[in-house]
Amino acid sequence: KRVAIFISGGGSNMVTLAESMTGDHPARPVLVLSNNADAGGLKKAEAMGIPTAVVDHRPFKGDRPGFEAALQAELDKAQPDILCLAGFMRVLTAGFVEPWKGRMLNIHPSLLPKYRGLHTHARALEAGDAEHGCTVHEVTPELDDGPLLGQARVPVLENDTPDTLAARVLEMEHKLYPAVLRRFAAGDKTPVLLP
Ligand code: GRF
Repeated sequence: KRVAIFISGGGSNMVTLAESMTGDHPARPVLVLSNNADAGGLKKAEAMGIPTAVVDHRPFKGDRPGFEAALQAELDKAQPDILCLAGFMRVLTAGFVEPWKGRMLNIHPSLLPKYRGLHTHARALEAGDAEHGCTVHEVTPELDDGPLLGQARVPVLENDTPDTLAARVLEMEHKLYPAVLRRFAAGDKTPVLLP
């Protein structure tokens, strides 16, 4: 299976996903694409020998379909079977998502359906939750919705800040996403639940 990974920043999830696709793994990374030319993950992908592309969203301000057509044009070239969003910070419309239905994954730093959207760690702390975590789901036109493919839980500790909690969640993301992708690429949609 050919996998494209969309990033917007450091790409730590992209790195762990790409590093997991070796040996008898049924998938290989064929493209890392970012909407941000300065994304640190682009250099990491290049260092790993993975083809990269940039589609800057700013020239398409007010023209989401135009931005998404440019994204799709890069995908038409790379011909991936699976699309993984990993720290990709742009909302995608139904027009882009529909053709990828069943072949597109996203990781979100909360125990969905709790805390869709942004600032998930601060919101979990605000709510006094004892547990928090991350979720991998199939992407549907609804933001941070879609069939669950994996979930990982972490404890919320006494003096956690959004940053300390985010770091604990990110560590689990790096375990969860590769485990989900390995199953998904083999055609197995049984959810991965950690620990
Ligand atoms: C992190 O906040 C992570 O929780 C979310 O995207 C952000 C950046 O991740 N999935 P990455 O290091 O770019 O993969």
